Amino acid sequence: SVVSTAELVAGAAANGTGVAAFNVITLEHAEAIVAGAEAAGRPVILQISENAVKFHHGRLGPIAAATLAVARDATVPCALHLDHVESVELLKQAPQHGFSSVMFDASTMAYADNVAATRSAAEFGHAHGLWVESELGKVGGKNGEAPLSAHAPGARTSPADATDYVAQTGVDGLAVAVGSSHAMTSRDAVLDHDLIAALRTAVEVPLVLHGSSGVGDDELRRAVAGGLAKVNIGTALNIAFTGAVRPILDGDAKLVDPRKYLKPARAAMADTVAAFLTLLG
Ligand code: G3H
Ligand code: ZN
Repeated sequence: SVVSTAELVAGAAANGTGVAAFNVITLEHAEAIVAGAEAAGRPVILQISENAVKFHHGRLGPIAAATLAVARDATVPCALHLDHVESVELLKQAPQHGFSSVMFDASTMAYADNVAATRSAAEFGHAHGLWVESELGKVGGKNGEAPLSAHAPGARTSPADATDYVAQTGVDGLAVAVGSSHAMTSRDAVLDHDLIAALRTAVEVPLVLHGSSGVGDDELRRAVAGGLAKVNIGTALNIAFTGAVRPILDGDAKLVDPRKYLKPARAAMADTVAAFLTLLG
């Protein structure tokens, strides 16, 4: 069934757990995320990023419709989230495609510009019933940036700025840079738990962890206990997908039916989803 991101995040924040948001690139990702969530008996957020929309020839409609249809059939609560949106034009398409939330990403802008752009995105979102997330600090690692750029000086989220930022923008959730980085293929990120605690005190809205594929089980458990209520996971699914496909193709040069490798790829992603959800629950 389809529920709102707001209620899943509020539920997680209220009981000290984390709700996972997994990135959908293909239909098989959406099917795997729901299958894994059903196996774990946990609610889940399916998120489509602006980069995934670009992959689908810039069109949000088809992948959003497929994801929404898969979510509707699910036996666990599922929410749809539009992720890492930089284009205001894309932001404006969110309400009509079944999304209940959006992450507006102005993190590469200077502080004042991030505030101004995010405030207007939040105004649009709230006028259309969306839960709005944005990022302060730079999680980094997107679009092929150096994977550990989150450790660059000045990349981390400042608690004092966070208080001002949330008050000025009116966002409902805050993505914070606390040591994780996007697109990591090993789970060895070291999080700054003192900073997480300071941020938890600095703002009242739920905190969001990005780049969670690179965060190991213990670090993830501590982060959730420390107040990270929404946990974004993308690369881990692609590691599972490609890890399943590669040996199959390597082992059979005559294979042409994509179902022969997409089925195990989807199953591997579902296992990964279930493992993360069990950990976070
Ligand atoms: O917004 C999406 C996430 O931050 C995913 O990051 O691919 O490194 O897990 P990841
Ligand atoms: Zn992210």
